[in-house]
Amino acid sequence: MSEANGVQSATQGDALENLLQENRKFAPSEEFAANAVVQANVYAEANADRPAFWAKQARELLTWDENFTQALDWSDAPFAKWFVGGTLNAAYNALDRHVENGLGDRVAIYFEGEPGDTRTYTYAQLTEEVKKAANAFESLGVAKGDRVAVYLPMIPEAVITMLACARIGAIHSVVFGGFSADALRSRIDDAEAKLVVTADGTYRRGKPSPLKNAVDAALEAEGHSVANVVVVKRNGEPIDWHEGRDQWWHDAVESASAEHTPVPHDAEHPLFILYTSGTTGKPKGILHTTGGFLAQSAFTHKATFDLHPETDVYWCTADIGWVTGHTYVTYAPLINGATQLMYEGTPDSPHQGRWWELVEKYKVSIMYTAPTAIRTMMKWGEDIPAKYDLSSIRVLGSVGEPINPEAWMWYRRVIGGDKAPIVDTWWQTETGAHMIAPMPGVTATKPGSAQVAVPGIAVDVVDELGQPVPNGHGGYLVVREPWPAMLRGIWGDPERYKDTYWSRFENMYFAGDGAKKDDDGDIWLLGRVDDVMNVSGHRLSTTEIESALVSHPSVAEAAVVGAADETTGEAVVAFVILRGNAAQDEEIVTTLRNHVGKEIGPIAKPRQILVVPELPKTRSGKIMRRLLKDIAEGREAGDASTLADNTVMQQIATSLKG
Ligand code: WT7
Repeated sequence: MSEANGVQSATQGDALENLLQENRKFAPSEEFAANAVVQANVYAEANADRPAFWAKQARELLTWDENFTQALDWSDAPFAKWFVGGTLNAAYNALDRHVENGLGDRVAIYFEGEPGDTRTYTYAQLTEEVKKAANAFESLGVAKGDRVAVYLPMIPEAVITMLACARIGAIHSVVFGGFSADALRSRIDDAEAKLVVTADGTYRRGKPSPLKNAVDAALEAEGHSVANVVVVKRNGEPIDWHEGRDQWWHDAVESASAEHTPVPHDAEHPLFILYTSGTTGKPKGILHTTGGFLAQSAFTHKATFDLHPETDVYWCTADIGWVTGHTYVTYAPLINGATQLMYEGTPDSPHQGRWWELVEKYKVSIMYTAPTAIRTMMKWGEDIPAKYDLSSIRVLGSVGEPINPEAWMWYRRVIGGDKAPIVDTWWQTETGAHMIAPMPGVTATKPGSAQVAVPGIAVDVVDELGQPVPNGHGGYLVVREPWPAMLRGIWGDPERYKDTYWSRFENMYFAGDGAKKDDDGDIWLLGRVDDVMNVSGHRLSTTEIESALVSHPSVAEAAVVGAADETTGEAVVAFVILRGNAAQDEEIVTTLRNHVGKEIGPIAKPRQILVVPELPKTRSGKIMRRLLKDIAEGREAGDASTLADNTVMQQIATSLKG
């Protein structure tokens, strides 16, 4: 744990102060409560016997080929097995069974491209597409257990690809389209992917934006595992073509047979790997398996959003490159037979009302987005959403970072018409599905708090020694009991799994977040307590960006901190010491920002790079990021008495003034 970000850091202290003054509460309307899918008794039922509760959900929400004989096997803790002996097929559960049950004509996906092109897939049509893609991938030699890298924009083919993999038992590894060729290559290598599915490109703010060129660059150096690249034609821009390796989606998939029999897979068969930043330089391949992941995903999607699949239109704005897109775009909505909207582009293209225009057009009733987006829309002004009919909205979700009470209130009033319950959902790539969230028909919600554990989940806030803190106090967020959608490990690194999550506190999962219990025992999330930053709800590692910076020949040393930012929550601020021979000009900052963009991706580019003569270090050589954070946030630097050289902060201050 870094010294820089203890639970008591200055920013968290301030945040705590502000939150303590927040005592508004919003109970659901009587009508909403009466019609809610989940009622208050769910908590007692779940707490009485958690594994039994999840077994019931798994049986009710999923169709099994072979019934499981045991809900949970925790004998090899912290390696869990859920729904032991059960077999099922994820794609069958998401698609075929709905068609068999007479729902083939229900819309599964309304797709809206950034340029305004639209496509609608019913459950029957989506099933057919997935069967074709499964056949196409199999004919390219992809078999059960093989890994498939997915580097696609937010287009229906992304969902189709993931489900086609799940259908044949291949493990997808989706890499966010905003990651660089280098980042893509390291993920392809780590998982030894056999196939890459990509697109020529997409659209960003009205302009074509390329993707395939990054795949080409990633595969340029020899020694990779990829045999084929399947390319969706999306923006029609010219691309390079590698004969023998590359295949057009429209050739490979469109011509494939629409008959494909799903085979059942073990409940613990790997479903996907998703890389996420940790506290070291190397991203972790978070591994999720089938039965438990699907059960908790489907239950939480239904319960947290009060899903009525016959009438709701659901919209999650997350990209499939992140876990939110996996759980709450690809899997849960389809498992639950919901109708959802998928939008390819940016919220301000061609105008800043685009999202609200979409809500009006598709009569979106459940909307799920991130605080960063809400704060951005606040800045654009409430006259923009006011131009549209948002009366279809009935539930609003928030995810990815703490939501400040101001943004929460704006979301409720301006988007939710002062009546739609807001569910602030805390979870992680590792947890697979919601862990802390109000139940919209039960909980009286508080602006800025995720409040209560999801039924069947045991979370707590503990002190340094792992003792639960009393109400009114802060500490570390932990999970006390295994849960169905929990990660099963880190791809290829079981030791790192134990070290990272299960070694800080005995028999508890350590999430890496600070939290506080208020006087009612409700939980308020306070941000990361490790070297992980949260920029616009995207997780970035300080160490990873530092490694990227020092890999540039001009940089001798680098330290990165997450500084509070009004819109993005946190922003990346880098302090660098240049090598003696490096030119100290304006250009160096641009050069280094671009270098980080190339190494990791544009999302990791520092907001600010400050060239300094020294970095504050303890006697043991550890960088005191806390002090740098003070500078980055424009404060007087705090206690520097443990520095090895106590003149360093003065040197930095002088150099920044000059
Ligand atoms: C980290 C996980 C969960 C999907 C998107 C991010 C932060 C997430 C909340 C929330 C406060 C939140 C935590 C967590 N976080 N949701 N509702 N309130 N913080 O997934 O990239 O795995 O990041 O995001 O710090 O540890 P992720």
